[in-house]
Amino acid sequence: MLDMVQNANVIDQGAFFACKVTEVEHFTDDLFRFRTARPASLRFRPGEFVMIGLQEERKPVLRAYSVASPSWDEELEFYSIKVKGGALTSRLRHIQPGDRVLVGRKPTGTLVTDALKPGKRLYMLSTGTGAAPFASLIREPDTYERFEEVVFTHTCRTAPELAYSQGLVQALGEDPLVGELAASRLVYFDSVTRQQGSRTGRITHLIETGALFDHIDRPALNPETDRAMICGSMAMLNELKTMLKARGFEEGSNAKPGDFVVEKAFAGDGI
Ligand code: FAD
Ligand code: A2P
Repeated sequence: MLDMVQNANVIDQGAFFACKVTEVEHFTDDLFRFRTARPASLRFRPGEFVMIGLQEERKPVLRAYSVASPSWDEELEFYSIKVKGGALTSRLRHIQPGDRVLVGRKPTGTLVTDALKPGKRLYMLSTGTGAAPFASLIREPDTYERFEEVVFTHTCRTAPELAYSQGLVQALGEDPLVGELAASRLVYFDSVTRQQGSRTGRITHLIETGALFDHIDRPALNPETDRAMICGSMAMLNELKTMLKARGFEEGSNAKPGDFVVEKAFAGDGI
């Protein structure tokens, strides 16, 4: 009996589920994604985050992670940084299929379409691992039911760091559920800041100068038609918040939907 329970893909441990890792893909020395079995009872709204972690000898080490998979996926996907000396990721970076990752029972967060007023065009602005919640949202049919157009931007220091978002968008074309919708409604824009690429520059700068809108051939940001979700470092969130407010956008929350919502891609960068 014990063997049967131990072999189950998901073990209910009370506060957490211990979920078997099914797939791991490394993109760079600092970035990887992995998939796990999904607890049948775990429900989340696309864009939410959940506590995940690894069991240590004395107690689990847990951190917040955006769920990167869509709500209809039978597995869970996460997109992760590898922090040198990081309490969680110095171990998490070595996980293999068959290992177990702890997943919390209570997904939560503000990067959800429920926290936005209806609009025509949804901007999803991300830097670094801030692309993770949007990996879920761009694969969700409901996103395209609510918005006529979805503009997903991802900015990183160098081109290899864009591999996850680029791969997702490319694969979306073949997706039986959202492939057709995404083909006509999803606009993907990537840029790099520390090397020359076809598109270079911080997203803040590209919005301020209008270069983003020239590239994607859309009008400048307008609170009448546009909504925004932002995920990145505190500095990036703060700058974009200021820029959106200056353009007449109001911040929303689960309790009071607005024109834009923000979520930290990570805590503790000292700002
Ligand atoms: P920590 O001790 O947690 O972090 C050490 C330092 O590393 C931090 O002070 C910071 O400077 C830096 N750092 C941590 N995380 C990142 C990051 N993601 N990008 C760049 N620098 C970072 N991380 C993910 O990789 N994927 C996610 O989907 C994700 N979602 C999050 C959602 C929320 C709401 C929050 C608050 C954080 C999220 N994080 C995510 C960060 C995550 O919780 C951990 O900080 C990260 O896994 C590193 O854990 P650690 O214990 O190894 O290092
Ligand atoms: P830059 O290379 O100019 O710092 P990081 O890896 O440090 O989290 O950064 C991820 C991406 O976010 C990088 O391209 C970085 O640009 C960009 N970035 C950092 N700070 C800001 C900010 N305040 N506003 C917009 N983009 C930012």
